[in-house]
Amino acid sequence: MDVFDAIRNRRSIRKYLDLPVEWDKVGSILEAGRVAPSSGNLQAWKFVVVRDLNKRKLLAEAAGQQYWMEQAPVFIVIVGVFNKHERFFGQRGKDLYVIQDCAMAAMQMMLAAQALGLGTCFVSALQEEKVGEIILIRGGARPMGILAIGYAAEKPQMPLRYRLENFSYLETDAGIAYVHGYTPGRHADYDMEVTNLRLAQRGINYAKQAAQDIDRLTKEKRKGLLHRLIEKAKSGGKEKQQKEAKQQ
Ligand SMILES: Cc1cc2nc3c(=O)[nH]c(=O)nc-3n(C[C@H](O)[C@H](O)[C@H](O)COP(=O)(O)O)c2cc1C
Repeated sequence: MDVFDAIRNRRSIRKYLDLPVEWDKVGSILEAGRVAPSSGNLQAWKFVVVRDLNKRKLLAEAAGQQYWMEQAPVFIVIVGVFNKHERFFGQRGKDLYVIQDCAMAAMQMMLAAQALGLGTCFVSALQEEKVGEIILIRGGARPMGILAIGYAAEKPQMPLRYRLENFSYLETDAGIAYVHGYTPGRHADYDMEVTNLRLAQRGINYAKQAAQDIDRLTKEKRKGLLHRLIEKAKSGGKEKQQKEAKQQ
């Protein structure tokens, strides 16, 4: 798969088919994480593969009760190991680089999964201590996120994204929009526009769902009606035959 296809087609998947993920695909995803870039090549990550349903349930609970996760047959918990970076890179290394390293690995794993025909969702809303207890994290390590992996049972559209011109600058950073807070102007207006569009999109999605539900129910009813008509026609036909037979 072309890398741009994988990038553009990847979506966060929150509905999964009841199908196992082949073990060799899990291996390939781990391999994609293994070769990710990391600060000073310290590779301060551990990837914990979880397939056990009970553990998945506990982890979904510890992820802010995101129960949809349980359907994904494989989780990879990405654990950041924080005891090396300070020595090499000082406070910034400890505060930032481990998180960046893990994010890079997570992204590579998501793209690899995409290329293998799998869906993923990176979940970071975690109660860290609970997750730590479930997978026995020890020492200077923290769970950075859980990658839910499985065959997708949905095909979400790309959620709204800013346009390139709203966040990319040539040679200089037009940072006034965020350094001084949002002042009235192009950025603030655009943010408002995006918020409104998001709200509108939600309304449209509800309406689409309602239309689908009505369509499905109408079809079911129509089927029932047609069935009854056929039955009636059949029994009517029989009655007619019986009457004719009697008359003869
Ligand atoms: C750091 C981070 C944390 C996230 N945490 C969650 C999460 O806890 N639950 C969830 O359903 N999605 C989570 N997501 C997925 C985002 O909601 C998703 O990437 C975003 O809505 C854009 O959608 P897309 O991935 O389909 O492009 C997280 C994504 C990132 C990058």
